[in-house]
Amino acid sequence: MHSEKLIDVRDVGKTFHSKLLRRPHVALQSLDLSVEEGEIFGFLGPNGAGKTTTIKILLGLIRSTSGSGQVLGFPFGSVAARRSLGFLPDSPRFYRYLTARELLRFGGKLHGIVGAELARRVEDTLDRVHLAEDARGRALWSYSRGMLQRVGIAAALLHRPRLVILDEPMNGLDPIGRNVFRDLLLVLKSEGVTVFLSSHVLHDIENIADRVGILNEGHLIQCGSLSEILAVDDRHVEIRFEIERGSVLREITPSFDELVLSPQGWFGQVGDPERATRIVRKILESGGRLLRFERKRVSLEEFFLQQISGERANTPTRPDVAASPRNVPRAEADQTRAPRRKRTHEEVPS
Ligand SMILES: Nc1ncnc2c1ncn2[C@@H]1O[C@H](COP(=O)(O)OP(=O)(O)OP(=O)(O)O)[C@@H](O)[C@H]1O
Ligand SMILES: [Mg+2]
Repeated sequence: MHSEKLIDVRDVGKTFHSKLLRRPHVALQSLDLSVEEGEIFGFLGPNGAGKTTTIKILLGLIRSTSGSGQVLGFPFGSVAARRSLGFLPDSPRFYRYLTARELLRFGGKLHGIVGAELARRVEDTLDRVHLAEDARGRALWSYSRGMLQRVGIAAALLHRPRLVILDEPMNGLDPIGRNVFRDLLLVLKSEGVTVFLSSHVLHDIENIADRVGILNEGHLIQCGSLSEILAVDDRHVEIRFEIERGSVLREITPSFDELVLSPQGWFGQVGDPERATRIVRKILESGGRLLRFERKRVSLEEFFLQQISGERANTPTRPDVAASPRNVPRAEADQTRAPRRKRTHEEVPS
């Protein structure tokens, strides 16, 4: 199937020169990026990584210092591209005295939508972002942060763009709002809309993005599908269990690659499912309790921390190595920071 590149960024750099800064600040370096039609692309990176700078360049709000590219087949910032794209800025500001309805009507008219069609679109779009009906006729100055965010998202969608570029769209949304928004993005995708969204809340992107790009200090350090990036080691198993201290525990301990005692019981890792099954059989036969048995999966969060810390330490980025689950520190909250080291069976108290 032929798919079109709706965003194509080639070797883009941006250096800020300002009187306030003592020296030029390089915000982006040699950025190459493309987003295909119909995909949800997550643009990730910590504060100051250059996400907003990239988005502003795509829209033509600022110019790149070097490089080139296209959005919807047109050069950055062209009016023709803007007609077919929806944009949510990182902190949207609105005319305070307009109501949500008035703001959307205003935006709709700029896109040439009028009359009954406009009225219907305004209500439909506000429904899509779950903005309470009784709030729609109130001035925006009386809105909460999350309500304003919903209005901003609605304004980006009203004219049914082919491509939406959203800078931190989940900002200010509560967990319910985030879920609504995630679902909305999936509906948009099913309608054929291409979505480019930035975030540093990885969870928000993890389950919906087809591909992600990870930006750090102006460099794209990773780009690809989540399954590629999070390459799952599907032979690796995690086991959580409870067992009386004694001979069985001593017997099984050497079979683990790693075993620690946490307040939630013993937590072990085994690099081979058959061996893991044998261990579990022994645990159950001795009257122990199995609390969890699952394949280890690297979360995007873990991967992200690994990548960023790797960059900071100036180590070369080796996706093949970095993505290996064994090299990724497990940030599991319920592990209550149990030390990660293998206990030998001599250390296991009987
Ligand atoms: N107008 C400007 N003048 C000087 N430096 C700027 C300007 N705009 C951005 N920068 C710098 O460029 C870098 C990238 O900023 P940018 O806003 O793109 O980051 P970001 O990834 O969007 O971060 P955040 O997650 O905080 O929104 C930062 O170091 C920032 O200070
Ligand atoms: Mg930003």
